Amino acid sequence: MLHTCKKAYITTPIYYVNDIAHIGHAYTTIIADTLARYSRLSGLDTFFLTGTDEHGQKIEEAAKQRGESTQAYADKISATFKNLWDDFDISYDKFIRTTDAAHMQGVQKAFLKMYENGDIYKDTYKGHYCISCETFFPTIQLVDDEFCPECGKSTTIVEEESYFFKLSAYEDKLLAWYNDNPDCILPRSKRNEVIRFVEGGLQDLSITRTSFDWGVKLPSQIDDPKHVMYVWLDALMNYVTALGYGTDDANMDYWPARVQLIGKDILRFHAIYWPAFLMSLGLPLPKHIAAHGWWTRDGEKMSKSKGNVVNPKEVADAYGLDNFRYFMLREVPFGGDGDFSQKALIDRINSDLGNDLGNLLNRLIGMSGKYFEGKVDTSDVATYYQSELDEVHASLAKLEPLLFEMQIHRYLEELWRPLTVANKAIDMYQPWTLMKEGKEKEAMALNGLIATILAKVSIMLYPVMPEVCTKIASSLHFVIDHHNWTRLAKGTTLLDTFTLEKIDPLFPRIEEPLLTQIEPQDSAKPDKKQKKTEEKTEGIALIGIDQFFQTSLKVGTVIEANEVPKSKKLLLLQVDVGEATPRQIVAGIKEWYSAEEMLDTQVCVVANLKPAKLMGLLSQGMLLAAKDENGLCMIRPEKPKTAGTPIG
Ligand code: MSP
Repeated sequence: MLHTCKKAYITTPIYYVNDIAHIGHAYTTIIADTLARYSRLSGLDTFFLTGTDEHGQKIEEAAKQRGESTQAYADKISATFKNLWDDFDISYDKFIRTTDAAHMQGVQKAFLKMYENGDIYKDTYKGHYCISCETFFPTIQLVDDEFCPECGKSTTIVEEESYFFKLSAYEDKLLAWYNDNPDCILPRSKRNEVIRFVEGGLQDLSITRTSFDWGVKLPSQIDDPKHVMYVWLDALMNYVTALGYGTDDANMDYWPARVQLIGKDILRFHAIYWPAFLMSLGLPLPKHIAAHGWWTRDGEKMSKSKGNVVNPKEVADAYGLDNFRYFMLREVPFGGDGDFSQKALIDRINSDLGNDLGNLLNRLIGMSGKYFEGKVDTSDVATYYQSELDEVHASLAKLEPLLFEMQIHRYLEELWRPLTVANKAIDMYQPWTLMKEGKEKEAMALNGLIATILAKVSIMLYPVMPEVCTKIASSLHFVIDHHNWTRLAKGTTLLDTFTLEKIDPLFPRIEEPLLTQIEPQDSAKPDKKQKKTEEKTEGIALIGIDQFFQTSLKVGTVIEANEVPKSKKLLLLQVDVGEATPRQIVAGIKEWYSAEEMLDTQVCVVANLKPAKLMGLLSQGMLLAAKDENGLCMIRPEKPKTAGTPIG
């Protein structure tokens, strides 16, 4: 029999390489990874795409500021994204870069096709451009006639020859698409926003630039070499060039995408420009474009200059990757904004994960160990606990639609109901009482019920917490795969008889924040209670260990050292502290160290100081040194250490 497996294509936005990844990027990628893992588990032939967006003026300028070639700079930052996703075990099938030759060829093919079918014409563009958002804005949308309505930065006036895409011609077709497909944009409230915007009228879109050249050239058939393509046209095309559009078409049968995940800030590009481009190319439109909300830190937008960016790797290393994944998906309703705080993360770990899930497994291990030498037998579960099974199966049946409607927080909420059923069953039937009363069969069946519920939950939780659920499954002697997904999670099959494998507690209780340096700035200020109890020793105020750890100290390697012209005291250093780009540090040490003496040496860096300017030069850190009447000496690690190694 010919078996055609249904396909599912899932994409993330491609990330700009002007900055390294923060929790906002990790959020999008983790949601997409969860969907891809679920999709595979449910038997769909799945293709999951992520990658980096590397062209445009913003990237060209970022590279220039760092004195690097644009390609070398893009290579370096793109690798930091790829490495992070690899560290995070993100199950992508392809990592695309817009500087890939095949992508650029595909974009040129698309441009030519739109040009040949009359959707592209040449004219002059005059108006404002925001480099940070890589977006043109009509004057009417600007704040105070100058500033970008999205990011608030100053815009530049552009007047140049440009090719235009006839976006205005697609107004009616776009409106028809939104109306005929109520779920094409999720959450639905976002779809209404888009409809209102399009109903307000669409202007044709400038899709080439001539004032810089870090971009895809126009196809040779058009023969206009001074133009490069607008970065958003180039970037959006990645979703099909990754499947071979314009080259070998190898994977185009995955198109249209099942879900395209984006943040709400880039909805307009994905819900208006992208479908219009696809219509022009005669390609089908994606099933869902799903826009999530924005993560802030203590209520503020994260930005490098505020120094409040949350590094996802640090959080995952400290709290556990799966715990971090669970927190992000459970904490915020999809589409809403979320605020990151360690307190909220710790509460989720201790309560949902520790008390409800981890504790249930511990109770099972305890029960079966004490009464049955670890054996679990499910033969009589249905005889004694059918109503509990029914309740569990009813909850599990609700899950799948919630996931693909992007109600991931509700998916997790519903998935916790079977755990409540299990914990309640133990409290109500009390295995110790059953054993005392000689009802051994009932006690064993209760054991089987708990094990079966844990198995079913761990299959459905696997896409969110793959590592933890794999551990639970191996303790319960089954594997998480499509076969067991069908039998145990979708079906009503119970676990087979087995002997339980003991494992260490999965969620040890967390009492204190584990990352003191990412706590809000305000927590650095002693509160009233602290002030009262301030202690002193030999006149020096004592601090707690957590106050000490509010200072981020790191080993750095000086990779460039120069004198600051006209300054007797200052050296200008570039110090590698293990980040994507070196820190520039202006140090007042010239009276004791020459630039040559500092070069290639290691230093200790205070890495979380607010940036400051000294003689007009930005300084992004401070070096530790000791000074007495005999002069100043640097504090250095005794043996060479990897740049970025934390001190403390
Ligand atoms: N390069 C474009 C996307 C092109 S897709 C064809 C871009 N890149 S980005 O790096 O700036 O942002 C990528 C994604 O990260 C976006 O979906 C954006 O919403 C998301 N986030 C960036 N900061 C975020 C938060 N603080 N919170 C949540 N997500 C945010 O836009």
